Amino acid sequence: MLNIMLIGAPGSGKGTQANFIKEDFGLAHISTGDLFRANIENGTTLGTTAKAFMDKGDLVPDDLVIKMLYERLSEDDSKNGFMLDGYPRTVEQAKALDSMLTEMTFKLDIIINLKVNDETVIKRLLGRGRTDDNTETITNRLKVFKSQSEPVLEYYNGKIKILNIESEGTALSIYENIKNKIK
Ligand code: AP5
Repeated sequence: MLNIMLIGAPGSGKGTQANFIKEDFGLAHISTGDLFRANIENGTTLGTTAKAFMDKGDLVPDDLVIKMLYERLSEDDSKNGFMLDGYPRTVEQAKALDSMLTEMTFKLDIIINLKVNDETVIKRLLGRGRTDDNTETITNRLKVFKSQSEPVLEYYNGKIKILNIESEGTALSIYENIKNKIK
């Protein structure tokens, strides 16, 4: 069983690489961004609250994210191995995750840190055009990543194995590198 965490700036390719990894390793893909977008689509109260933050490129408050993640991790498929995509994004979320994993008797095996230039991010995201992919929001998402999410890597440094991956070049070449390093 393998439990992975994917961390990286917006547009670093977390979702893209998660799709390759889950095919090969048969892991439950848990993306907090996707969970929020599903809530928005279904018109839930959580979705309405989250949307206001997502549209600006700000983080959804920790208590809401932590509760949602706890519920998702409690689902049956997580027991066979999971991959977190976009969680944790704050040290507070990382600490909450540690408690959840202890309670659920799960262990995190590897953190995959996708490293990418801001220029590449902007090019990729403007090319995609999701509702939060406009210049103003992308700029804020990058700022928020640097100030609130990069400290998560410092938090785990020395505690969990971190694979640093250059996420430039083709999606497939990046995946080949990840796959070789996981094995
Ligand atoms: P989330 O959905 O997680 O978005 P994000 O982190 O901004 O990441 P993206 O989905 O934009 O990029 P990605 O790294 O997954 O790259 P992708 O593979 O898609 O979060 C959205 C919002 O939800 C947050 O801003 C926040 O408000 C909220 N949220 C979510 N989780 C939260 C949490 N834990 N706490 C608080 N708030 C939270 O690729 C992007 C594009 O690039 C695609 O078009 C793709 O085809 C292309 N691409 C990827 N790789 C390559 C490549 N190698 N070459 C060329 N193109 C590529």
